[in-house]
Amino acid sequence: MQIVSEIEPLRQIRRHWRQNRETVALVPTMGNLHAGHLALVERGRQQADRVVVSIFVNPTQFDRADDLAAYPRTPEADQAKLAAAGVHCLFAPTTATIYPDGGLATRVEVPGIGELLEGASRPGHFTGVATVVCKLFNLVEPELAIFGEKDFQQLLLIRRMVADLNMAVRVEALPTVREEDGLAMSSRNNRLGRKERALAPGLHLTLREIAAQLDDYHSDFAVLQELARQRLTDRGFQPDYVEIRRQRDLAPATADDEQLVILAAAWLGDVRLIDNLMVG
Ligand code: PAF
Repeated sequence: MQIVSEIEPLRQIRRHWRQNRETVALVPTMGNLHAGHLALVERGRQQADRVVVSIFVNPTQFDRADDLAAYPRTPEADQAKLAAAGVHCLFAPTTATIYPDGGLATRVEVPGIGELLEGASRPGHFTGVATVVCKLFNLVEPELAIFGEKDFQQLLLIRRMVADLNMAVRVEALPTVREEDGLAMSSRNNRLGRKERALAPGLHLTLREIAAQLDDYHSDFAVLQELARQRLTDRGFQPDYVEIRRQRDLAPATADDEQLVILAAAWLGDVRLIDNLMVG
């Protein structure tokens, strides 16, 4: 596995692969890799000749300095996992490489989808995500980019950006990988204390219960959402939102919509977890 942190060596590798007519899959990450990331890598290996994984804890997508500082960083363990998984290139730039001269004048904004839910709770988050993913696409020039459905709103936002800006990359998504008790795999899980970790599967459980009750409530989504918030509180969470939305664009669901997604964000102590469940 080649490990590069600068732009020019990355471009050289990319040029070489292009000369050999080799296709490239990119898996963008912020590191602290788990089985969910490795499933994306495996998919990349099946779909392209070469797999590039980027690890960059992107400061501009954090709305709180303490959250950025506490984000788990495990570079040696990540490198070992990626090498064992057959990744061809790890791109691990510094902040100064991605944001030279203290920052960028240009930003990518995706209003609408970027302003709902996570966008409303974490101002600036999705502008940071869209901008850095756009840069990663320009740097790596992948034919394929692979994301997890756990960050479902992020996935829709990136698809919208790619479509709007005619980016020559195919975006593929893989289902959320879960622990045995149902907790969605996430780097943030490592920050949960023992007590919080025991409570954490309650988030997925609540989503499943609400999904199972959709028919009983005859699409009275507001009542169900309130019920879900109450259950999360009873299970030791501080809910941020629980929303039943249309899968296609995250607009509030109506009784006519068949493809739904239930999305939730909730705090356990000082750790904010998100999860979602597709219905239909
Ligand atoms: O999902 C993530 O890990 C990040 O939001 C991403 C896509 C790597 C952009 O920093």
